[in-house]
Amino acid sequence: MNERRVPAVNLESVTKVYGQGSPILGDLSVSIAPGEFVSIIGPSGCGKSTLLKLVAGLSPVTSGTIAVDGMTPVNAREITSFIFQDPTLLPWRTVRKNVGLGLELEGVTRERQESTVDSLLALVGLEHVADSYPRQLSGGMKMRVSIARALASNPRVLLMDEPFAALDEMTRDHMNEELARLYKEREWTVLFVTHSVAEAVFLSSRILVLAPHPGRLAHDIAIDLPGERTAETRRSEEFDRLVARVSRSLREVGRT
Ligand SMILES: Nc1ncnc2c1ncn2[C@@H]1O[C@H](COP(=O)(O)OP(=O)(O)OP(=O)(O)O)[C@@H](O)[C@H]1O
Ligand SMILES: [Mg+2]
Repeated sequence: MNERRVPAVNLESVTKVYGQGSPILGDLSVSIAPGEFVSIIGPSGCGKSTLLKLVAGLSPVTSGTIAVDGMTPVNAREITSFIFQDPTLLPWRTVRKNVGLGLELEGVTRERQESTVDSLLALVGLEHVADSYPRQLSGGMKMRVSIARALASNPRVLLMDEPFAALDEMTRDHMNEELARLYKEREWTVLFVTHSVAEAVFLSSRILVLAPHPGRLAHDIAIDLPGERTAETRRSEEFDRLVARVSRSLREVGRT
């Protein structure tokens, strides 16, 4: 039925070498359909961040091709949005002004800026701190501001590099639940890098396990958890089974 849909992200025999160094990514091929939530997991240094940068068009491939919604990564920048681990908010601007920064730079009318920012703040549950400054916010709130800012351009492909790594476990669980809720409401394709197996299983429809030296696809695991992802999900047997399965793959690639 959908087999002729253009993949949201398609990698074909992608390799990446920085300068004269050894290959970071070696012959990576993977096709991601629109609407998939794909987590990328693998030992430190296996090229996860590099992979996201290539898809974001921030760094060129050495060989092979990447297509984002049928376009080159550079041409697709309008529909992609990169969310980094460190929220890097501007400290002298309020929450509202941080979220609206991109729109302001794009020259969007003030009225539209305001209505877009209002609805984004409502989406991430931060209306009540719209006029606060970043230093007045908790880590989890800062992250939500940065997600709202990334969403302002209405991206279709979200690239998230360990966005919740710096948060304590409770806040992280809460952010995972928020993200699962936002994802359900929108039609995003997400590439999500994490070191947390539980986080990857909770959020994803699919997990790619990368092996290192050079980075390559070792396992492609479907996460077929039924129903909505809520705090309950973590207490299911199916969840535990998948966490064990992914942890096992991760241990395997760690030994290669
Ligand atoms: N701009 C660069 N120039 C040269 N080498 C780089 C550059 N960026 C990354 N590397 C190297 O590429 C390899 C992969 O790095 P990358 O950041 O993609 O790994 P990662 O899987 O994201 O690791 P981590 O889990 O620690 O974040 C590392 O050996 C790193 O030193
Ligand atoms: Mg990284």
